[in-house]
Amino acid sequence: MTDRIVLAYSGGLDTSVAIGWIHDATGADVIACAVDVGQGGEDLEVIRQRALDCGAVEAYVADARDEFANDYCMPALKTNALYMDAYPVVSAISRPVITKHLVTAAKRFGASTVAHGCTGKGNDQVRFEVSITSLAPELKCIAPVRDLALTRDKAIDYAERKGLPIATTKHNPFSIDQNVWGRAIETGFLEDIWNEPTKDVYSYTDDPAFPPVADEVVLRFERGIPVAIDGRPVTPLQAIEEMNRRAGAQGVGRIDIVEDRLVGIKSREVYEAPGAMALIAAHQELERVTLEREQSRFKRQVSDRWTELVYDGQWFSPLKKSLDAFVDDTQHYVNGEIRMQLHGGRATVTGRRSETGLYDFNMATYDEGDAFDQSQARGFIEIYGLAAKQAAARDVANGRGEDLGEDTTGAQA
Ligand code: ARG
Repeated sequence: MTDRIVLAYSGGLDTSVAIGWIHDATGADVIACAVDVGQGGEDLEVIRQRALDCGAVEAYVADARDEFANDYCMPALKTNALYMDAYPVVSAISRPVITKHLVTAAKRFGASTVAHGCTGKGNDQVRFEVSITSLAPELKCIAPVRDLALTRDKAIDYAERKGLPIATTKHNPFSIDQNVWGRAIETGFLEDIWNEPTKDVYSYTDDPAFPPVADEVVLRFERGIPVAIDGRPVTPLQAIEEMNRRAGAQGVGRIDIVEDRLVGIKSREVYEAPGAMALIAAHQELERVTLEREQSRFKRQVSDRWTELVYDGQWFSPLKKSLDAFVDDTQHYVNGEIRMQLHGGRATVTGRRSETGLYDFNMATYDEGDAFDQSQARGFIEIYGLAAKQAAARDVANGRGEDLGEDTTGAQA
């Protein structure tokens, strides 16, 4: 039987050409696999037909929007995942869900190999291939751009020569990857890191410098997951979509950073993730109300490690799974509501309430009803400061006391 290769197919020029290119180079039959993770654009059926018209022997299409929102975006939200404190791992979390479908398609159609359209310089090739090995160690991987010399110019030439039903004229100055969690824009004039992003870079967000009137939103979370907006029940997908619209209209979630790629390159990345950034801000504040202090402090470390693993293509790794269990356990009491004002590029928390929070008015108040026994503080500080006090006394005795500087008060000794 002829060898079969499943190709991650977007419907665009490069992967449309890749169908024939892979067949010519390897002799294998190509099965196109298109996955909807909320990237918008063309209908899946249009994409399926184009794949077949470009020479695919089969086309597998999947609407994975809810799956992506539930099983990939929500774990990222529970973790408050921000790579380098800035990037909400938009592309990094889409690769594992796409991979699941690639592997499913490979099994269904008896393919030996999975192909993707990534270059040899980025993170995404690593994420695809490490995810594939983690799910199906027997599958092989191939990347036509990286392994079969499929350049942009050759793709245009090939499409025109073979009369493929795909536009080759559209000049796209950027490399863009988008899904419901956000949008990544890179290359072109953004490679000069002093250049300011131009207006055409953005599509999920409006200019925060000219915002419409402020928008107030109340988000309800249960176990760390958004379940209602302004009192209306929502699924995770609906919550992200609505916040993309509302926070996007206010220009919330524009990010412009130089980032450390796994392959060692520093690269300039522009992102827009209005829904993700607003949801993370709200979730993080609700955690400040509901998580016990030590759990909260430790979770920040777990969150950093989780985010690095996911960024580095280790979504299906054992450590990532173990950290998921920790994060899930912390979310038990993350229930309640956050009120936020969306305006001029910011999502500002203005109120919070939780039936399972640890904020205790009677402990916190300086007014009538104070339940905190201040007299206990003296003894606490005495013991808490004891180790520092003993060390300081030793320093003084050894002439190594803290330098207090010149006495400039003019006081007589
Ligand atoms: N640098 C980001 C990441 O590694 C985004 C990559 C997006 N890919 C693209 N073709 N623009 O997660």
